[in-house]
Amino acid sequence: MVQAKKITIAIDGYASSGKSTLGKDLAKALGYIFIDSGAMYRGVALFALEQGLLDSGNLNVSELVAKLPEISLYFTMDATQVLMLNGRDVSLEIRSSKVSEVVSAVAAVREVREKLVDLQRAMGSEGGVVMDGRDIGTVVFPKAELKLFVTADLDTRSQRRFEEMQKNQPSSTFQEVKNNLSQRDSYDTQRSISPLSKAEDAILIDTGSISREEQLKVALELVETVLGHEV
Ligand code: DC
Repeated sequence: MVQAKKITIAIDGYASSGKSTLGKDLAKALGYIFIDSGAMYRGVALFALEQGLLDSGNLNVSELVAKLPEISLYFTMDATQVLMLNGRDVSLEIRSSKVSEVVSAVAAVREVREKLVDLQRAMGSEGGVVMDGRDIGTVVFPKAELKLFVTADLDTRSQRRFEEMQKNQPSSTFQEVKNNLSQRDSYDTQRSISPLSKAEDAILIDTGSISREEQLKVALELVETVLGHEV
C-alpha cells in the first residue's frame, strides 16, 4: 500500500488569535500531531518563576541560560495535550497570568529559542505535524508545505482570552487581559531574535470574520491543493 504523504503545516499569529483552535481542528481532521510551541515557552517561563529568576519582574538571563540543561519538556500525546516539565504535568499552571506576564521576556532569550527550536524540529521531523507559534513558518519550518498566518483584532482576541481565563482565573478583568495581549504583541513583534512576522508565502486567515467551521474548511481546502488530492 502506498503511504499517504504527510506534510508539515506551520501556523503563526498573534496571541489568542485562534491559532491553537484551528491547529487542533486541522490536526484532528488529518490525523496529524498538533504541537503548541507557545506552551513550551510558557513551560520555560514557569521554570524561571519557580527558580526565582524573575526578581521584581527582571529576568536573570545568565542564570536562566546556565540552568537550561536542567529543563526537560515534552508533550504526552493524549486527546488533550499535556505538557510535562521535568516529569510534572504543568498544563494548567502555564496558562496563569503570572506566566503570561513574563513569557515574552523569556522567549526573547536566544539560548531559550535555540533549545526550543531544536526540540520543535525533532518533534516535527517525520512530517504529519501541525505546529503553531510565532516563528514556525519563518524559522522552525521555513520549508513547511503549508503556512498559515492567523489574525483577529485586539478586542476579539481579548474577549476570547478573557472568556477562557474565566474558567481558571475569574479574578482577571477584561482590561487586564487586553493590556497583557497588547504588551505581548509589541514585545513579540519587536524582539531582535525571530520576531513574529508573516512568512512571505503564508496565507492569511482572519479568525474574527469567519466561523471555526469555515476556518477549518478553508484550511482543509489549502491542504488538498498542496497534496493534489482530497483528504
Ligand atoms: O501562543 P502563546 O500566547 O501561548 O505563546 C506564549 C508566548 O511565547 C508568546 O508571548 C511569545 C512566545 N512564543 C514565541 O516566541 N515563539 C513561538 N513559536 C511561540 C510562542
